[in-house]
Amino acid sequence: MCGIAGYIGPRNGVEVVYDQLKRLEYRGYDSAGIAYPQNDRIEIVKRAGKLTELQKLLDEAPRDSRIAIAHSRWATHGGPTNENAHPHFDRLERIAVIHNGIIENYLDLREELLAKGHTFKSQTDTEVAAHVIGEEYTEGTPLEEAVRKGVQRLRGAYAMVVVSKLEPDKIVAARNASPLILGIGIDENMLASDIPALLPYTREVVILEEDTIATLTRQSVHITDLDGRELPLEPIHIDWDIAAAERGGYEHFMLKEIHEQPQVLRQALAGRIDEKNRVRLEQVFSEHVWTEIDRVNIIACGTAYHAGLMGKHLFEKLLRLPTDVYFSSEFRYGDPVLSPKSLAIFVSQSGETADTLAALRLCKSRRIRTLGVVNVIGSSIARECDRTIFTQAGPEISVASTKAYTAQVTVLTLLAMYIAQVQEMPGVRVSDAVAELVALSEKAEVCLKLEEQMIKLADKYKSMPLCFFLGRGADASVALEGALKLKEIAYIPTQESPAGEMKHGPLALVQPGVVAIFGSTDSETRDKVVSNMKEVQARGGTVIAIVTEDDAVTERAADEVIRIPHSKMDFLNALLTIIPMQLFAYHVARLKGCEIDQPRNLAKSVTVE
Ligand code: M6R
Repeated sequence: MCGIAGYIGPRNGVEVVYDQLKRLEYRGYDSAGIAYPQNDRIEIVKRAGKLTELQKLLDEAPRDSRIAIAHSRWATHGGPTNENAHPHFDRLERIAVIHNGIIENYLDLREELLAKGHTFKSQTDTEVAAHVIGEEYTEGTPLEEAVRKGVQRLRGAYAMVVVSKLEPDKIVAARNASPLILGIGIDENMLASDIPALLPYTREVVILEEDTIATLTRQSVHITDLDGRELPLEPIHIDWDIAAAERGGYEHFMLKEIHEQPQVLRQALAGRIDEKNRVRLEQVFSEHVWTEIDRVNIIACGTAYHAGLMGKHLFEKLLRLPTDVYFSSEFRYGDPVLSPKSLAIFVSQSGETADTLAALRLCKSRRIRTLGVVNVIGSSIARECDRTIFTQAGPEISVASTKAYTAQVTVLTLLAMYIAQVQEMPGVRVSDAVAELVALSEKAEVCLKLEEQMIKLADKYKSMPLCFFLGRGADASVALEGALKLKEIAYIPTQESPAGEMKHGPLALVQPGVVAIFGSTDSETRDKVVSNMKEVQARGGTVIAIVTEDDAVTERAADEVIRIPHSKMDFLNALLTIIPMQLFAYHVARLKGCEIDQPRNLAKSVTVE
């Protein structure tokens, strides 16, 4: 995610915020910028690329100011260019704004402002937000009041920071959904999007609550709610070392990223659903294209391939659209038969996976429509696809993919719902399905509370010689991903297949000590899955079942039962089972003392064929 820094105090603020941005570099970014009030105006220095590019500008003309704000941007709306880099001015260049998160109604606001004669230099939602706050910054209105009024016109997630040339003695910040931390010093105060940026300067921090506004001066910090009521300032003392702080206090990035999933689920939908629970993906292809497509090929590797398999369930079940899922490496050398009316979807976290990129180029050479489902903006796959939907999951640092998977499946689900909406599919109630998708984030929170149970199970079974991952339908697809997590970080051999395939061979591997994890979330196949569990137990294997809370049948068959919240869409129940599986893999690996974030033999981005 993007990084935010801000400082007011006796030091050179420009140098402090630059240093703070450096401490946030591990989060990934593609442009950076600084704003500081000086001589009755606001100076903005910003540049696409790494911080070294920004440093070159600062070296050319060294800057000094007692107050500064800074931002490192990971592109979401608009590519990683100098113009799109933050900070952004309002219309009259009186205030400068930096922002993390996504403003969902920015297109509507942009149109409204354009009609009033505003012009924009960037493609960002942030510049629109700056103009909205600027509109509220009328004569006699204090900056904090303008920010309070402005953010109430915004819908979406934000951590927003504003400085003004008219009030150069304060920084005003607002928070809703995206994190923002205040650092309380002596004769100086600061803020950042993440704790590590603050630790060299202070260890007294305030984690800003949702829907609050903070005003920082050199000597004071005030927090108010959206009605202007003063809230208590309750700093906490942080004694983590800096490396632990980068991981948000988690022992590994993988665990941090697992825990980010509720937020990631929200982010993946941000700006894509309207008040009536209708899907808004208009920029993807024009509507008539979706009625022409006769076949879908989903092409990806590893975890992204597993997400593609989930897509196939939906495209075929919900849309009756024939869908094939290919490993990129097989597709490109397989001389695929491609219908001219087909759509090829490329799923990739990094957007740089060599085989997926080569498969994309093959499709383009055959003039097939291409759509990317990609996390990294500006990546090769995102640039070369005809259209791309970004998963908006934020940078994923751990080699083992977790939050990217849930975001990829969410985006494919959203796409399926969008196509159903455009095609007016009979029998598909898009708004009901979307409501279930929206509710998934809270259910993911509940799944994370299973961690204690997963730690106990990990401890009990960490020495298993082999672990099966089984299920039917969508549960069988999630089983593949659960198995990949366990093998890649805990180095435990796994056997994954649809549960019905067991007796055609793999069952021969079951013996005492072997564990079988079953996802069983589909009421239609529940009885069959229970029979498969019995087959494992009859041969001495141990059965762990992941079921929905309303399932009173499976618990009688399994040795261990994990309960997840129930969604009315079976498919989404299957998706949620990945969270306990990720936690299980993580804690088995941790208890075995494995190198979790960088497992042996693997790389985050596979750019060789
Ligand atoms: O960046 P991509 O999504 O294209 O990467 C594809 C695979 O290399 C990746 O999903 C890999 O399987 C995971 N990191 C494993 O957890």
